Amino acid sequence: MAAATKNAGTDAGVAGQEAHSTVGDGREFMKLRVAILYGGRSGEHEVSVRSARAVMDAMDAAKYEVVEYFIGKDGKWSPRPILPEPGAQPGIDVVFPVLHGTFGEDGTVQGLLELADVAYVGAGVLGSSVSMDKEMTKRVCAERGLPVIEYVTVMRENPDTAEACRALPFPMFVKPANLGSSVGISKARNCEELKAAVTLAAQYDRKVIVERAITGRELECAVLGNDAPVASLPCEILPSREFYDYDDKYLLDRAQTQVPADLPVEKTEELRRLAVECYRAVECQGMGRVDFLLETASGRLYINEINTIPGFTSISMYPKMWEHSGIPFAALIDRLIELALERHRRKNATRFTR
Ligand SMILES: Nc1ncnc2c1ncn2[C@@H]1O[C@H](COP(=O)(O)OP(=O)(O)O)[C@@H](O)[C@H]1O
Ligand SMILES: [Mg+2]
Repeated sequence: MAAATKNAGTDAGVAGQEAHSTVGDGREFMKLRVAILYGGRSGEHEVSVRSARAVMDAMDAAKYEVVEYFIGKDGKWSPRPILPEPGAQPGIDVVFPVLHGTFGEDGTVQGLLELADVAYVGAGVLGSSVSMDKEMTKRVCAERGLPVIEYVTVMRENPDTAEACRALPFPMFVKPANLGSSVGISKARNCEELKAAVTLAAQYDRKVIVERAITGRELECAVLGNDAPVASLPCEILPSREFYDYDDKYLLDRAQTQVPADLPVEKTEELRRLAVECYRAVECQGMGRVDFLLETASGRLYINEINTIPGFTSISMYPKMWEHSGIPFAALIDRLIELALERHRRKNATRFTR
């Protein structure tokens, strides 16, 4: 499994030369070649570049040879793309897509990697696309009896807000169903603001989610694993603004975080259990960060969303939560790569023809 495929072709520009390393006993072994996909055609391009840098810096150079695949904002790959054909990437043992948001975290790149028949880190096509879509996440979680925030869906083609006004109390949160980084999200306090918020969100997705605003605390939990996922200790996000918006996430550097979150033991355990159940419900694999809102008045925990390629920057919460739970960054990457290889091996035991 750990033996790298030799770069068969003469086209060795990307994969480079054979990667040899020497272990303690003098025995030589091949390094695992890991393709890092980053950048991408999404609003989170810059964050992806930072996440990828942090991942590459944390990878053990004695074990891995990194092969970089940068995707521009225009969707162009450099120095060349991954091809959708089995065996077309002879120099690559495993792919780590460090792409956030659209065209990276939503199942599209995962589909390409399935066609290419390469092992890759993180959720598959189904888990990625269900998790990317906030309405689908709510539907599969609700079907399992998991607590999700009450919502109404509004479509761009018929942006009627009357049902939301009837069904939900103000204030409400309005968001594009498929996006991240708080882009296109706003809080509405009355019907006028609701209409404006829907118009804004509808620029980013045909499908818009309107949901009840929860007054309380924001908590996150990291999950790791394939069929037996485990949850980290949770953390708390303390936004510096009215909510955790784009500026607060990436520009201001004023939001505070606390790991582990200061919660009663039972709440911590409930949150970790819900995180794993949400992860299973959406059929996530590899890794996922489940975000919660804890309502002050009721003491209830609500699942807000799951991110299948969470941030990996030096200040990101996914690696930080694992660090506090006993898995340092480099070991986390080792584990994610192991999980990717395990999943690929298992999938290859499947028959695709009669
Ligand atoms: N129903 C809600 N009640 C209170 N705050 C919310 C609600 N929905 C979203 N928020 C706030 O908006 C932020 C971004 O919303 P989220 O659903 O996490 O979208 P994104 O995928 O862009 O991160 C959250 O981190 C939280 O601060
Ligand atoms: Mg979020």
